[in-house]
Amino acid sequence: MSDKDTDLGLDDVIGEVVMSESMFPAVPLDGVVPLSALPADKETVLIVYCRSGRRAGATAAHLLEAGYSHVYNAGGPAGDAHLWQALAKRQGEVIIPMPGGVLQLFDEDAPSGGGSSTLTYILTDLESKEAIIIDPVLEQVERDLAAIQQAGCTLVLALNTHAHADHITGSGLLKAKLGNDKIPVRSAISRASGASADILLEDGEEVTWANGKRRLRVIATPGHTAGCVCYYDPTMQVVFTGDVLLIGGCGRTDFQGGSSETLYESVHTRLFTMPDTTLVYPAHDYKGRRYSTIGAEKATNPRLTKTKSEFVELMAGLNLPYPKKIDAAVPANMRCGVQD
Ligand SMILES: [Fe+2]
Repeated sequence: MSDKDTDLGLDDVIGEVVMSESMFPAVPLDGVVPLSALPADKETVLIVYCRSGRRAGATAAHLLEAGYSHVYNAGGPAGDAHLWQALAKRQGEVIIPMPGGVLQLFDEDAPSGGGSSTLTYILTDLESKEAIIIDPVLEQVERDLAAIQQAGCTLVLALNTHAHADHITGSGLLKAKLGNDKIPVRSAISRASGASADILLEDGEEVTWANGKRRLRVIATPGHTAGCVCYYDPTMQVVFTGDVLLIGGCGRTDFQGGSSETLYESVHTRLFTMPDTTLVYPAHDYKGRRYSTIGAEKATNPRLTKTKSEFVELMAGLNLPYPKKIDAAVPANMRCGVQD
């Protein structure tokens, strides 16, 4: 960064793109950001900030490598103090023309959580102040509500990718807790799941929120369960895959109407046909990974790069234990969760 760049005043950057960790909290420390979510114009001013400046620094380096010429690390003590102070002073006035963030939350072990290793997603729209949640976990409802409140948003939708067997959805409790809100939160799941919810979704349907500005496309991907769907956000070019496609894996296919043949077909015809750069946000990971891409899974997923018959044989031989929580989770999830 040149001295001239360091002297850039905040007035010069208002209205340009500001990225914060609250917008890309799922970004790992290596600083990889979904470039598809950024303006194509490489001259656009990009200001990256986070609490310490370390992650912002890594992200800024990545953006420079990607060809953006006006990238500034405004993060904390390790960042550009001038920009940071200016931003801190007038943060409330900074326009964020990005479509809003996605917050990824992990269900840790008890006592703080339910121990299901579920990745829950909260999407926020800073203009309408609406938020939606994907695959909430019953034990994490307070955490999720705090995050939504911190973002200054109101929860309007609780979406489920399927009736889970390893945890009870938080949808019911969220509805109970937010029942008196001006816009009450609505629960959603696929019609094919057989579960009850406020909204029963069909393949190809679009779920809209933020006054119609934001949308998610429903993609039927049966196989892990008969009613599994993925949600595709065209603005962020992100697909929330539930358990049908995991990072380097896939959900089991031996209960709830599961079928390995069907799962293989779903992944290959509905997901692997998407652009390689599409980000994959799964509902679980047990190894600390947080996202993947369609291209990476197509090339390296050890299960789904096999032929269909090899895959079916592999899935039939897994001999997985009976899921611990299935007897409580599935009946509760068929009515979209427990309500107070
Ligand atoms: Fe599942």
